[in-house]
Amino acid sequence: MSALVDTPRLARQRRIASGFSRAASSYDAAAGLQREVADTLLARLPTDCPTATVLDIGCGTGYVTAALARRYASTTLGLDLASGMLATARASHPELAIRWLAGAAERLPLAAGSVDLIASSLALQWCDSLEAALDEAWRVLRPGGHLAFTTLCDGSLHEWQGAWRAVDDGAHVNRFLSEETLAATLARPGWRWCRHEVTTRRCWYPDLAAARQALKAIGANTVVAATSSSAHALRGLTGRQRLARLEAAFEEYRRPAGIPISYRVATVVMQR
Ligand SMILES: C[S@@+](CC[C@H](N)C(=O)[O-])C[C@H]1O[C@@H](n2cnc3c(N)ncnc32)[C@H](O)[C@@H]1O
Repeated sequence: MSALVDTPRLARQRRIASGFSRAASSYDAAAGLQREVADTLLARLPTDCPTATVLDIGCGTGYVTAALARRYASTTLGLDLASGMLATARASHPELAIRWLAGAAERLPLAAGSVDLIASSLALQWCDSLEAALDEAWRVLRPGGHLAFTTLCDGSLHEWQGAWRAVDDGAHVNRFLSEETLAATLARPGWRWCRHEVTTRRCWYPDLAAARQALKAIGANTVVAATSSSAHALRGLTGRQRLARLEAAFEEYRRPAGIPISYRVATVVMQR
């Protein structure tokens, strides 16, 4: 029974994992914004707390994991859904004693109360339930342990979404939690305290092709709710016409620095 219930979730995770595995070799060169966000997260990590075991959820190529391993003389775990990301992470940091684990934020392969500090940068927006990820973090953290993460809120990629709306009604951009829903989720009883802030960051591109290429290079082009929308067929548009329409709509966002893609980034630190 539970296998049947799990099927859509697992299928969704497999699609996300294969998208990121395909992007593993191009990720680092294209991940400027992800690096800035990770550095902000690392700067917010609590000091003066036990750090015998630290975990990076959705570690990707291991940028945050390596920083944790260097900062704390501890058991460091890097966990990700995508085997390709884990292989790149392992190969990129051979000098560090990091345990790389395959797994999902919603079902961590770790014992209850076994982790002192969890970090996670720009991964939890890929979970179908932030609550489930928070519940798992709560389970594996020891009492008094900290969870620090960044995630994306509604308004992220709005230029991309707006441009696609001019083409068809299909789902071309992932949905992100509203800031109100995020705040309500974080305010659930249990956690001892929680601080969070939301800021806007922008990446600038010379044109549509460069923006598309960048999203693909970091693996962010998997659309989890992709529909087989036939809207474009109904409108009788060819592939070339769709692309021209998308380009024109994207151009509407152009500013002197280029065309932006915005990210609403939440940085959260909480204590169990
Ligand atoms: C945008 S990358 C961020 C990687 C890294 N944290 C960084 O800052 O560079 C998101 C990562 O989260 C992973 N991911 C997505 N959903 C996940 C889940 N449910 N559980 C664990 N990892 C997940 C992806 O495979 C990918 O490696």
